[in-house]
This record gives sequence, C-alpha cells and structure tokens, in this order.
Amino acid sequence: MIKAVIFDLDGVIVSTDDCHYEAWKKMADEEDIYFDKTINNRLRGVSRMESLEIVLERATKEYSEEEKLQLAERKNGYYKEFITKLTPADILPGAMNTLDELRANGIKVAIGSSSKNTPVILKQIGLSDYFDAVSDGNNITNSKPDPEVFLKAADMLDIPYGECMIVEDADAGIEAGKRAGMKTVSVHGAKGADIEIEDLSKKSLIKFI
Ligand code: G6P
Ligand code: MG
Repeated sequence: MIKAVIFDLDGVIVSTDDCHYEAWKKMADEEDIYFDKTINNRLRGVSRMESLEIVLERATKEYSEEEKLQLAERKNGYYKEFITKLTPADILPGAMNTLDELRANGIKVAIGSSSKNTPVILKQIGLSDYFDAVSDGNNITNSKPDPEVFLKAADMLDIPYGECMIVEDADAGIEAGKRAGMKTVSVHGAKGADIEIEDLSKKSLIKFI
C-alpha cells in the first residue's frame, strides 16, 4: 500500500531543462567548450559538480579544483537569472491535478530533487508551502543514483520506504528510487521504471497506489 509519492522537481513538476541548457551553454561557449542538447540530457538528475565534470569531458584544457568551483558558480549565476523568470504557468501539464488528487485521497506528497535551487524554484511556481516534505540538494551528500534524497524525504514524512512511490524523468532517478526500495514511475521516457507514463496529464497515479 502506497502512502506517499515523492516527486522529482526538474522535468516532473516544472520544466527547467531549457534554463539548465542555456546556462551551461553560455558558460561552455565562454570557455570554448563544445556543448549541445544531447550532452545536456545526460545532466538530468545529476548534481551540479558532477554535471560540470560531464561538461568538461569536451574541454581542451585542464581545470584546477578551484577553477571548477568558479565555473560551477558562474553557471549557477546564469541559471538563477533564468529561473527568476519561472511562474506558476511553468508547472508541467497534469502536475497540479495529480498533486491535488493524491492529497484528496490522503496520500502524502513530497519533493526529492538533487537541485540546490529547489526552494527558489518552488517559490517561483507558487508551491513553497504545498508539499508535506522537501528533500533536495541542500540536505544530501550523495546525488542520484544514490537513494539518499528519497530516503530522507520518506524519513521526513515518517513513512516506511516500501510504502513510497517516486516519479522521475531521469534514468539516474529511477535507479535511486529502486535502490531506496520504492515503487518507481517514469515520465518522458526515463528507463527501468516499474510503471512508465508519457507525462502526468496522460494517466492518473491513483490507480498505481
Ligand atoms: C536536477 C537537474 C540537474 C541538475 C541538478 C542540480 O537534478 O535535473 O540537471 O544538475 O538538479 O541542480 P542545481 O540547481 O543544484 O545546480
Ligand atoms: Mg528531473
């Protein structure tokens, strides 16, 4: 019996893919590093510093640890400019109905995101006070596919891991959910989930509870 659903934020509740892409692209162009949307897709669910390592695979020079921190900070500065433009209209189709329906049925809802910008994004889309628990990049040491972010969300809710379901758009996130011992739902083609749906507007999650 599922008592809680833990949602990834980026790509599940709100689409920030383009904001991440534009910010990485700007930084990469400045550094003369090749970057495209295919590489950007590999960054889904992956922490900022791990994402930087993927971006730097195409770099032609070596960067020191200090320089890497500066690059990540520069990218995040650009990203923050872009996300201040997000509004409730950027909530993805079906997400709000899904959340409301789960709550109406007594199911707890939480966020499990690798992003340190989660509080800002939730504020921009008007959902700061909506969730029963928010576990994000600020309270974890290991990013997805490590299960930590989902385990912490379940702990905050005080619900056993086996009674939680996660919703993800990243392969790394599905793996994290599985390692957490939770039921997994994928959207937008993430691989390896127990249940695959196109997006939250296509199917009600209640039937999988
Ligand atoms: C999410 C996104 C990733 C991003 C990560 C860290 O998981 O899918 O693409 O790298 O968050 O985001 P942050 O806002 O902390 O840089
Ligand atoms: Mg995601």
